[in-house]
Amino acid sequence: MLELRDIKYSKGDNEIIKGINMKFEEGNVYCIIGNNGVGKSTIGYIIMGLSDYRPSQGNIFLDGKDITELSLTERAKSGISLLWQEPARFDGITVENYLKLNRDMKKEEIEETLKLVNLEPSRYMRRYVDKKLSGGERKKVELASCILLKPKYVIMDEPDSGIDIMSLDMIVKVINHFKKMGSAVIVITHRKEIAINCGYSYLICAGKVFLDGESKKIVSYYEKTCDNCGHVNYLEEE
Ligand SMILES: Nc1ncnc2c1ncn2[C@@H]1O[C@H](COP(=O)(O)OP(=O)(O)OP(=O)(O)O)[C@@H](O)[C@H]1O
Ligand SMILES: [Mg+2]
Repeated sequence: MLELRDIKYSKGDNEIIKGINMKFEEGNVYCIIGNNGVGKSTIGYIIMGLSDYRPSQGNIFLDGKDITELSLTERAKSGISLLWQEPARFDGITVENYLKLNRDMKKEEIEETLKLVNLEPSRYMRRYVDKKLSGGERKKVELASCILLKPKYVIMDEPDSGIDIMSLDMIVKVINHFKKMGSAVIVITHRKEIAINCGYSYLICAGKVFLDGESKKIVSYYEKTCDNCGHVNYLEEE
């Protein structure tokens, strides 16, 4: 179990995360939903342990062990992985080599994974992970890389961003694939079609968990209330 306890985080004078509590168990799918700028990606970075994202208050526990002070690399070794909202590009490395980096990976496994993310292996194995790859293709390669890592906890930051609407089914398939492997999946999204397939949702507003519970209920509330919210990014009671 991965647990965030009373986490706060500030950038300069700006308190972005204002005391959140969350729990994630392996084999379950969670959604973090909320409008632009409410702090969703920030929560992902805090869990992953990016160097600029140490909480100013609170603790993160992995199976009861306090990991708040662990680096990104140490957390990655413990089985936490992040799919970036905007993945980086690298010159001089092919998709095949990128996907088998430092690992004794079979070619067949890479090919199967590329098929899972709707990339035809014969067309993509020898392509370079550089600027010539479109944003959507790059995102799919990153998705494949995440799958091959077999993480215990995977944070997917807007897995649908930059990907055509036809691929929404693929993303749901990938989420279910992670679930079957026994991973805890934490999906950051605005999309109802994706959120509805998650078991439990956290609705974020202004750096706080505004509402949490069964995804269908939270998504229905989000659609009714947040889509045309007049107080974007500050809570009513503030
Ligand atoms: N380096 C920074 N300096 C100051 N404020 C920042 C910085 N990075 C992020 N923020 C602010 O923190 C808030 C949360 O940002 P975050 O990226 O977590 O939002 P988000 O919910 O992921 O939004 P989106 O849906 O657009 O991806 C935003 O208001 C943003 O402007
Ligand atoms: Mg974001």
